Amino acid sequence: VKIAAVIPAAGVGSRMQLDFPKQYLVIQDQTILEHTVHKLLALPCITTVVIAISKEDDYFSDITFTDNRVCACFGGASRAESVFNALKHLRDDKPDWVLVHDAARPLVLPEDIATLVTQCLEKDEGGILASKVKDTIKQGDTKIEKTVPREQLWSALTPQMFKFDELLAALELGLKEAPHTITDEASAMERLNLPVQLVSGRSDNIKITSPEDYDLACYLLNKQKE
Ligand code: CTP
Ligand code: MG
Repeated sequence: VKIAAVIPAAGVGSRMQLDFPKQYLVIQDQTILEHTVHKLLALPCITTVVIAISKEDDYFSDITFTDNRVCACFGGASRAESVFNALKHLRDDKPDWVLVHDAARPLVLPEDIATLVTQCLEKDEGGILASKVKDTIKQGDTKIEKTVPREQLWSALTPQMFKFDELLAALELGLKEAPHTITDEASAMERLNLPVQLVSGRSDNIKITSPEDYDLACYLLNKQKE
């Protein structure tokens, strides 16, 4: 089986409040994007890693990846469009499966990626890394309307792994019919009632989103290096 990876890295990182995209923040001599790409390259079963970058990106050209499995393409106006463009880029050398992983999640462990891959291949069904919600969840605007039972709630993480053809078709349709609801790959599959496995992964596979996430990411990456 041929497995490719797509890394959406075309966002501006507005919530991070920097004057450059957060994926180019440096932690231990490497950008967040490089840390992330290396986590995927650690799996020998992955034959290609496509990074979706913005047309306005001034930073990517300063990075070199020595592994010849890495290539780049242009992203789009939303995460879903960036992933869709990367899938179209892969069409000529079509993989059987594709793993999509946020550039902003450098903390994922290759072991967790491997667990997802094994589970999807074994069950012959797409799936995502996810972690069970730990907090008590409240619904409301400024006052609590209710407490939402959390037994069935998961936080969706990445990677998310699907059959290439199915994800390409689902994203194309989702982008056409309900673009704002497609915040991850699974949501594009769900709206077509396609099954998606929940594969339990480490909750410290955080997406670096706001400034306070940076210190946590530094600490965790340092710990991984020990
Ligand atoms: N992404 C992308 N193309 C976009 C928007 C986002 O490839 N048009 C990528 C980001 O680079 C990131 C991942 O999708 O790796 C997850 O998105 P998010 O954390 O929301 O990043 P940003 O959109 O860059 O940040 P913000 O929403 O705060 O602006
Ligand atoms: Mg965003």
